[in-house]
Amino acid sequence: MPKICVFPGDGIGPEVVREALSVLRTIEEVSGGRRFETEEELLGGVSYDAHGVPMTDQALALAAASDAVLLGAVGGPKWDPLPFEVRPERALLGLRKNLGLFANLRPAKVHAPLLCASPLRRELVEGIDLVVVRELTGGIYFGEPRGIRMENGIEVGINTEVYTRPEIERVARVAFDLARKRSRRVTSVDKSNVLESTELWRRIVTEVRNREYADVELSHMLVDNCAMQLIRYPKQFDVIVTTNLFGDILTDEASMITGSIGMLPSASLGGKVGLYEPIHGSAPDIAGKGVANPLATILSIAMMLKYSFDRTVEAGLIEEAVTRVLAEGYRTGDIYREGPGVRRVGTKDMGEAVREAIRKRG
Ligand code: IPM
Ligand code: MG
Repeated sequence: MPKICVFPGDGIGPEVVREALSVLRTIEEVSGGRRFETEEELLGGVSYDAHGVPMTDQALALAAASDAVLLGAVGGPKWDPLPFEVRPERALLGLRKNLGLFANLRPAKVHAPLLCASPLRRELVEGIDLVVVRELTGGIYFGEPRGIRMENGIEVGINTEVYTRPEIERVARVAFDLARKRSRRVTSVDKSNVLESTELWRRIVTEVRNREYADVELSHMLVDNCAMQLIRYPKQFDVIVTTNLFGDILTDEASMITGSIGMLPSASLGGKVGLYEPIHGSAPDIAGKGVANPLATILSIAMMLKYSFDRTVEAGLIEEAVTRVLAEGYRTGDIYREGPGVRRVGTKDMGEAVREAIRKRG
């Protein structure tokens, strides 16, 4: 039986993960009893509270020995004062690095019923369907030297953006392969006018395209321009490939134009085990209130079924069910706008609506 390692994490993490797992159980029911084993572990602030570290060796070993990992969210103000090395975010970065998850897929798709939740005008947003492929284990997130120290009596903070040829080549291939399953268009985003690390990025992405993917159309865009274009005319994008830091920033922006960051799932691939998580954080302000939007985590289960278990039919069932409940008017607070037939629901009711929609179809 395939095994899923589950890290509910901090803040709203446990609430949204609970709903997502229960959707997975419904998928098992309707797909003739092919079951998944799940095992939970602490990760992030809750792990620090219990063990003094945000990720234990045991938690990492469990993830590495599983077939896929589901993660809620980590972090919160409670742990912000902690020393850097034991902050919850280190667990997430350590997990990505240790599992070799160098390619982070973040699809941003607009659901028709949520058009009015976008801050952009309807005609700009309608039909958006893009994926950002974010490099996830390199760049300024991991480069050395780094740290805060005294130099000649002055305090300095240092981080270093580093990219090697193999790191760029492999993530470029993920983007081009993905583009072949879509509309064969890739936009590579960099800051090659200022940063040598991304001058190399641009050159190597171009080489890989010319050598191995002549059938895919490649264009380049500077990151500042891309941030603007995402607001001006987001429909021009299909697959975007970019560095770790730029991908972090641009995907928050991309999520907002689709209505809410509470809607977007992600898959981190490249190693033996895939990691699936909503792109939103732990939302400490609403944690424990039962109002968080579980759809990003539920859609992360769909990505897991597709990428780790090759179960595209079941993945499709989940995606359809989400579309259906939105069409039926179910809204959590983050995507709620007053309107006819629209009702505001909590985390559990949203999860139940999705399960109900799957049972009806499945
Ligand atoms: C994300 C998050 C993380 C990141 C944080 C929590 C470390 O913002 O997954 O986008 O910066 O990668
Ligand atoms: Mg982020």
